[in-house]
Amino acid sequence: MADQFDVIVIGAGPGGYVCAIRAAQLGMKVACVEKRATLGGTCLNVGCIPSKALLQSSENYHELLHGFARHGVSAENVSFDLGKMMGHKDEVVGANTKGVEFLFKKNKVTWLKGAASFKSANTIVVDGKEYGARHIVIATGSESVPLPGVEVDETQIVTSTGAIALESVPKHLVVIGGGYIGLELGSVWRRLGAEVTVVEFLDRLVPTMDGEVATAFQKTLGKLGMKFKLGTKVTGAAKTAKGVTLTLEPAKGGAAETLEADVVLVAIGRRAHTEGLGLDAVGVATDERGRVKTNGHYATSVPGIYAIGDVIAGPMLAHKAEEEGVALAELLAGQAGHVNYGAIPGVVYTWPEVASVGKTEEELKAEGVAYKVGKFPFTANGRARAMGDTDGFVKLLSDKTTDKLLGAHIIGPDAGTIIAELVLAIEFGASAEDVARTSHAHPSLNEAVKEAALAVDGRALHI
Ligand code: FAD
Ligand code: NAI
Repeated sequence: MADQFDVIVIGAGPGGYVCAIRAAQLGMKVACVEKRATLGGTCLNVGCIPSKALLQSSENYHELLHGFARHGVSAENVSFDLGKMMGHKDEVVGANTKGVEFLFKKNKVTWLKGAASFKSANTIVVDGKEYGARHIVIATGSESVPLPGVEVDETQIVTSTGAIALESVPKHLVVIGGGYIGLELGSVWRRLGAEVTVVEFLDRLVPTMDGEVATAFQKTLGKLGMKFKLGTKVTGAAKTAKGVTLTLEPAKGGAAETLEADVVLVAIGRRAHTEGLGLDAVGVATDERGRVKTNGHYATSVPGIYAIGDVIAGPMLAHKAEEEGVALAELLAGQAGHVNYGAIPGVVYTWPEVASVGKTEEELKAEGVAYKVGKFPFTANGRARAMGDTDGFVKLLSDKTTDKLLGAHIIGPDAGTIIAELVLAIEFGASAEDVARTSHAHPSLNEAVKEAALAVDGRALHI
């Protein structure tokens, strides 16, 4: 007889582990299966957390080298120790993954170690042993999309996993894909001294970002010394004694050229990971992109089987996966779990950071929505001036008739933290005027948000 649980979650990433903890909090007997040696999924092991540790370390070095002088602070013989930087990153990862293990124990979630596959709609097999549950949740996440002709070896041609563990700073790093991963990790290695060239298929960076913000973003990354080849595709890679020779072509067709690299980072997106689960055997339907199909309540095509996180449709973000994990656990407990997909922020943790929530101007135009725009630059914000960090602006979009906030886009210092008040505003259905009437501490970066909200009706005070 198989061990029985109320809920078995497959995958202990931000979607899975949070779902398991919430279900346990609600009184259910829960197991979570994870095949990795540590909990926390892509995000804690090889994604969000290690990349942010390296972004912080490289930013510290870069500031000491180029930023502090404007404050009259100087240092001699500025250097860095890559081994120690990587050691710090590994410590941070270890503390976070062990933290999840502690939370499992605290909440009495059983960790089933190994890879799960379905035997039936309510039975899985892990390491030859069967486990049964009333509800089974697929939270198996995503993996890097491969690029034909550019074979990953994780040393010379790497995905993000290899790019957060390089043993030395490459002389020339070529990044294929100008999205979240390429720009974050490209800026890490640029700050540490690599020449960085980003090859992007489209004629702009981060296609999901507001166009005006993306243009400003490319300019700030250009100031850092990153180079861009937009509207260009990579058609092949050949390893040489010195590194890798890439063959490039204009995306619209034209003459081929070559580009020499020491290391190549392939970052052209991620795709749902369902390999080895045996979805076909139980009849769980997937869509044209291999993502598990779900209804509005995370139920798959098979009763009793659910799915959340990167393995289903929607933005591939840790906090989106977490929200879904909580909502599903609450639904399984008979409560009213819900995720507001209109209020999921997205942040690129470069410096300056780029943060957004809600609709972009391009989306509003495409949907034929009449809107107002309010903008305020950080050059006119006292705190940003004091920091010596005045690149960027806040841009708010509100409904032309009702003034309801529809989108918020920020490029600037700490944009990822500043955006939180606008996520809350959108969650609560606030108008731009509500934000404008809210007292903002002085002198703070968030005053730029208030000013942008005032600017929606042409009454900014400080510009
Ligand atoms: P995952 O975190 O991918 O976890 C799935 C887990 O399931 C894995 O541990 C896997 O081993 C396990 N698994 C798979 N199949 C099986 C099986 N059959 N049996 C047992 N276990 C299985 N998002 C952000 O919001 N902010 C960021 O700053 C950010 N930075 C990122 C940086 C990088 C370099 C990368 C690659 C991603 C980043 N992301 C970021 C995205 C974020 O990591 C994902 O959105 C998030 O991890 C998705 O969570 P998940 O629970 O759906 O899946
Ligand atoms: P991405 O979707 O963000 O960007 C991929 C880029 O590659 C796009 O600009 C796309 O046009 C381009 N591209 C696609 N095919 C190409 C080709 N053949 N040649 C050249 N360019 C090509 O994907 P990325 O950067 O791999 O990241 C995956 C996901 O991980 C992100 O979308 C995001 O959801 C998540 N992530 C989130 C982070 C955060 O929240 N800060 C950080 C890192 C990743």
